[in-house]
Amino acid sequence: MLSRRDLMKLAGATLAAPAFRSVAWGAREDRRFPTPPLLPLTRPAPGVVEAELFASWAQVPVGGSTARLMTYNGAFPGPTLQLHEGEQVRLRFTNLLEEPTNLHFHGLRIPPTVDDPFRSIEPGESFVYEFGVPWDSAGTYWYHPHIHGHVATQLFAGLAGAIVVDSSRRRSRLRLSESHLVVLKDLALEGGGPAPHSIFDWMNGKEGPLLLANGALQPVLRTTRQSIRLRLLNASNARYYRIGIEDHPLLLVATDGGLIEAPVSLDELLLAPGERAEVLVPFARAGEFSLLNLPYDRGRGIGGMRGDRGGYMGGMHLGGSVATSVASPLLTVAADIDSRIVPLPRRLARVERLEASAARVARRLVLGMTMMGLEFTINRKTFDENRVDLHGREGEIEVWEIENPTGMDHPFHLHTYSFQVLSRAGAPEAFPAWKDVVNVRAGEVVRIAVPLRHFRGKTVYHCHIVEHEDRGMMGVLEV
Ligand code: C2O
Ligand code: CU
Ligand code: CU
Repeated sequence: MLSRRDLMKLAGATLAAPAFRSVAWGAREDRRFPTPPLLPLTRPAPGVVEAELFASWAQVPVGGSTARLMTYNGAFPGPTLQLHEGEQVRLRFTNLLEEPTNLHFHGLRIPPTVDDPFRSIEPGESFVYEFGVPWDSAGTYWYHPHIHGHVATQLFAGLAGAIVVDSSRRRSRLRLSESHLVVLKDLALEGGGPAPHSIFDWMNGKEGPLLLANGALQPVLRTTRQSIRLRLLNASNARYYRIGIEDHPLLLVATDGGLIEAPVSLDELLLAPGERAEVLVPFARAGEFSLLNLPYDRGRGIGGMRGDRGGYMGGMHLGGSVATSVASPLLTVAADIDSRIVPLPRRLARVERLEASAARVARRLVLGMTMMGLEFTINRKTFDENRVDLHGREGEIEVWEIENPTGMDHPFHLHTYSFQVLSRAGAPEAFPAWKDVVNVRAGEVVRIAVPLRHFRGKTVYHCHIVEHEDRGMMGVLEV
């Protein structure tokens, strides 16, 4: 596991993050780790939950100051939708912005006719989203806008919230760990609001110097428990988080689609845009430990680039990399632990293992970009909502080979159908896990098994660097 010294070596310098020098550190009490509010639910009948959500501009606290952001119910990040397996949800959504928007329930396995990226909700309009929370879906998901061409600006401006699905029947030992949701979302401010996109942001995906955890800058999470469970959600437009915690391993217990078979001990965890992971941190002793974002090079687009020192570097360097060169603290855990030992689970869940041999259909998707980096493609085409790119049949398992010949990473995401990664760059995946986003590194091929189960209709797959999605790196699958 990573000691503080290793981390400093990795960082190539010190752990001090230049991003934060300009930000006044508030008193310690002000740096208390905040939790996004829960979306209030009403229960008109057993098993039915109703809620109201609206999108609007609002002045909200951001990393010790305030800013005018696009919000859900006036909160940043948006309120958490806390659900249980088997519940029937009626969510009334109202658009109080001056531009069209809609909702996408990222990762939830619900019909594409409900979770429909082609539906536009105009300013002043409401729409009721109605769906059942699937069984065996306990895990961490999220909601965000999905209007083609507006996703990047609306998400960057603040529109994102978590969905937490609890199991209705399983009682696991995980319940003994204190659980915390951590929404990772970076931000750049200008004139008291979200900074506008530059042409380079459209190529590389927009990042900001404020690395926020639940909207706060380097907050302090106090715990008296022997072990904590972090539900990590990368709700950033384009920023990758390579996460490590000082002096401790991270025990991975869940991926995008829920629990894995058994905890996997990791020194570090890479979370691409859109991805979620749940980790346990069992503390070896009392102390303060930083959860860090370690350097990661996600490659380059074309043209001007910036290094990342928490802010934009002055000039633009041709052929530079979108690389983080320092380890930035995301939050600090102050563990004032008692002596009670919390037993960690050995087995978590049974996870079906999809085999490539069960697949009847094989596809190849090649990610690409145009010369100027202004448009992004899949199999040489930019997105067209009136075209169906892939025709599938309900009930079949398909194998998709996603090839990335470009110079930068692309997080590939599929709606409606969760998949399993079979291999990355030829190396078989170590354990079966349900995913809906998989990072395809520059120059690599990733193979996934996609079971087209339970739903028919038109759905989409795309790069979750949302600027790339808006600029065409999206396709339509009709089942
Ligand atoms: Cu989170 Cu189609 O996206
Ligand atoms: Cu999605
Ligand atoms: Cu991309």
